[in-house]
Amino acid sequence: MSRVFVTRRIPRVGLDRLAEESVRVRVGQPNDEAPVPRAVLEDGVRWCEVLLSLLTEPVDRALLTLNPALRGVANYAVGFNNIDVDAATELGIPVSNTPGVLTDTTADLTWALILAVARRIPEAHAYMTAGRYKLWGPNLLLGADVSPGGSGRRKVLGVIGYGRIGAAVARRAVGFDMDVLAYDPHARDRIDAAEHVRWAELDELLRRSDFVTLHPLLTPETRHLIDTRALQLMKRTAYLINVSRGPVVDEAALVHALRSHRIAGAALDVFEDEPAMAPGIAECDHVVLVPHIASASVDTRERMAVMAAENALAHLAGERAPNVINPEVYKSPAYRARLAHRR
Ligand code: DGY
Repeated sequence: MSRVFVTRRIPRVGLDRLAEESVRVRVGQPNDEAPVPRAVLEDGVRWCEVLLSLLTEPVDRALLTLNPALRGVANYAVGFNNIDVDAATELGIPVSNTPGVLTDTTADLTWALILAVARRIPEAHAYMTAGRYKLWGPNLLLGADVSPGGSGRRKVLGVIGYGRIGAAVARRAVGFDMDVLAYDPHARDRIDAAEHVRWAELDELLRRSDFVTLHPLLTPETRHLIDTRALQLMKRTAYLINVSRGPVVDEAALVHALRSHRIAGAALDVFEDEPAMAPGIAECDHVVLVPHIASASVDTRERMAVMAAENALAHLAGERAPNVINPEVYKSPAYRARLAHRR
């Protein structure tokens, strides 16, 4: 019987899909609020043929080396910065992710954050629930327009990272009559081909945007892409939104920029040292903070679970996984040796 080690609980439909194929499943951590201890993770990897990991587990070279019969890693996330993909490729281990199904849900959350930070929704909610609303007034909780609003000036949305999610965020800007700039050195062609979107170099985008929204993969190239220098280039009236990975932003620099009113505000779904937040950020004005929930709708999380399960089944069968990230691995002798490995 084949064995899949699922590091933490995923929606039932994913586990059911594995059960349909008579796969034995072990879940490393049943408590949703606790991480998987490293020893449990290592034990699970030694036991299984396929590892179904979450973005909270570092799948590093040391872990991947523990089991010569490991046939694949199915990550329950579109992002895969938690996995050492180079090491996996070298070791002949295919790695897969869950792209596409979470694009709309993530783009919607991005817009929820843009509107929430610009229109001060969390502050307004706290004001109401604290019983502070006594009298309507022209100066109460004034925010910034996202659409042209009373001024008639079209606002500029700057999209950094023009993959599926960045493009979906850009499409939604049409409804707000915004001008959209995009920067992504890996997607110049797609940006040039997109209607309503104009390519901009990073510095131009930062200088001109009213809202800068981040959607790149986390790579050495994008780590701290938004640092003190970048924040200095932004307009004082601009907002920063991060729905990608925390380390794309130098969070200490962001706290400084917010405290000194270098920018108008920020909305973050992800954090540099998640789940911790940089000291001082929670106390800053004009900040909206949410706990990495961009893909958190019932339907999307279920679709991700089924997708990760399908990828895991393909890894088990020694077939090309539908969402493999490192397909070159299939040609390697190291991969073939894994399939041939007998316990
Ligand atoms: C991802 O999939 O990478 C998100 O961060 C969580 O859904």
